[in-house]
Amino acid sequence: MKQDTIIIFDFGSQYTRLISRRLREKNIFCDLVSPNIDPNFFKDRTIKGFILSGGPNSVFDIDSPKIPNWIMNLDVPILGICYGMQLIAQEFNGKVEEASNREYGNAILKIKKDSMLFNGIPPSNKVWMSHSDKIIKLPENFTAVAETNNTFCAAFEYKNIYGVQFHPEVDNTNLGDEILSNFAVNICGTKNDWTSQNFIQNSINQIKDEVGDSNVICALSGGVDSSITATLIHKAIGSQLTSIFVNNGLLRKNEEDDVMNFLKKDLGLNVILADASKQFLEKLKNISDPEKKRKIIGTEFINVFEKESKKINNVKFLAQGTLYSDVVESALIKDGHQVVIKSHHNVGGLPEKMKLKLIEPLRLLFKDEVREIGKELGINNKVIGRHPFPGPGLAIRIMGDVTEKKLELLREADHIFIDEIKKANLYDEIWQAFAVLTNTQSVGVMGDNRTYQNCVAIRAVNSKDAMTADWSKIPYDVLSKISSRIINEVNGVNRVVYDITSKPPSTIEWE
Ligand code: XMP
Repeated sequence: MKQDTIIIFDFGSQYTRLISRRLREKNIFCDLVSPNIDPNFFKDRTIKGFILSGGPNSVFDIDSPKIPNWIMNLDVPILGICYGMQLIAQEFNGKVEEASNREYGNAILKIKKDSMLFNGIPPSNKVWMSHSDKIIKLPENFTAVAETNNTFCAAFEYKNIYGVQFHPEVDNTNLGDEILSNFAVNICGTKNDWTSQNFIQNSINQIKDEVGDSNVICALSGGVDSSITATLIHKAIGSQLTSIFVNNGLLRKNEEDDVMNFLKKDLGLNVILADASKQFLEKLKNISDPEKKRKIIGTEFINVFEKESKKINNVKFLAQGTLYSDVVESALIKDGHQVVIKSHHNVGGLPEKMKLKLIEPLRLLFKDEVREIGKELGINNKVIGRHPFPGPGLAIRIMGDVTEKKLELLREADHIFIDEIKKANLYDEIWQAFAVLTNTQSVGVMGDNRTYQNCVAIRAVNSKDAMTADWSKIPYDVLSKISSRIINEVNGVNRVVYDITSKPPSTIEWE
C-alpha cells in the first residue's frame, strides 16, 4: 500500500523544517523536498497535498524559485505559506507589492469568512509574521478569508488552493499546528495514522516482501540508528540477517565488549565481530589531515566489511540506518532534477561495489522518531538515549596524527567526562558530549615540578538534529570535578578546557 504523503516544497525559509515537524507531531506523514525535485521521487507514494513554504526571496527576483509546473496538473490541494502564498497570487495573476520594510513579529489574525483551514480556530488569533512583499490585489475568484491590521489578505482561498501570509509552523502562532492539520486532514483527506506501531508493522511487511529468501547484511556500529535498523529487519526475516560489527581501533573505552554484549544478548542479533584495529591504525600512521583520515577509514571499512560479508551466502541486500535528514539533505543540496541519496558515511560506495540493493527502513524518519520506534521495539533506554558517535570515531577527536598512545589517553579522559555527566544526571539532557585531544602542549605545575603536557578539550552540545547546536551550560561544580579527575587520573594531561562555541560558527566535532 502506498504511503499517503503531504509534500512540502522548501523555498528556503528558516522555518521550513518546522512545517514537517508540526505535521509529523500530528501523526501526518510528509516529505520536505526541493522544488526542483523529480516527481518520480514520489512514485511509491500517494500525494495528498502540497505545501509551498516561505522563503527569503522576493517573487520579483528574476531567478527566484517558482512553483513546480507539474503540481498544477494534479488536482491536489495546495497551501502556500508566506512566499508560497505570494507565488500562488502571482501564478493566478493577482498583484504582489514589493515592500521595503519587513513585517516581523506577532500580529492578530481576524478571520472574516468560514474556511476549512480555520476550523476550530478562534475568530481573533495570534499569528507570527515574517515577510516583506505583500499581496495588494487578489487573483480573480480568490477570497480573502482573514486579515490583520497590516493587510486585508492574511489568508486566501480558491477551490482547493489556500494561502496564508503568516507562519503557522512556528510556536508563536497560536494553534498553528491545528491550522496545518486542518489542511492536511480535513482538506487533503490524508490520514493521521503515522504512528510507531503502524510504522513497525508496515516496515516488517515491506522487508519480508522485498527480501524474499535472500540474505541481508548490516553494518552495525552499536549506535541507535543501526541497532534499530537491524532489530526491525531481524523481526521481519530473523536468521536471514547477519550483522557485522567492525572494531576499527578508534572506539571508546570498553566499547567493543559493551556493544557486542548488547547486540547479541539484548537484541538477540546474529553478529560477526571483525577486529581490524591494527589494520586501521597502520593505515592512519602519520596522517594528520582530517579529510584524509576520513577517507582512509572509509576505504578500510569497505575492505573489511567486504571481506567479512563474502563469508555469507546468497547476500542480495545491504541494510543501512540512513535517516530522513540524510535523504532530505542530499535531495536539497543537489540542484536540478536528479536526486542523489547520501550514503551512510561508513559504507559509501559499498552497495555499488558489491552489487547489493539497499534496505533503509528508517529513511523516512527523524532522529526522535527513530527513538520512538526503538522504544516501541522494546530497546533498552540506555541504547536509545546514546549520544551519536561518528563513523571515523576517535580519529577525528585527536588533532593531528593518531597513535595508540594518544587513543589510550583520549579514551580515559572521555570516559571520565561521560561518567561525571551521567552522575550529575546531565547525560540525557545533552545531545552529544565527548573529549578531544588537542595537539597543544602547555606548561603546568604538579607538586613542585614543572610539567609540559597535553591539553584536553571537553565539548558538550544541545541540539535537535545536529544541524545547529548550542554549547551545554554544564554547572561549574560538575566542570570542576571533571577537570580535576582528568588531570589526576589521566597521565599526560595537565590542562582541561571547555569548548564554549555553538554551531555555527563551529561544528560539533573538532575535525
Ligand atoms: P559536525 O561536526 O559536522 O557533526 O557538526 C554533526 C554530527 O555528525 C557527526 N559526524 C559524523 N558522523 N561520520 C559520521 O558518521 C563523520 O565523518 C562525521 N562527522 C561528524 C557528529 O558526531 C555530529 O553528531
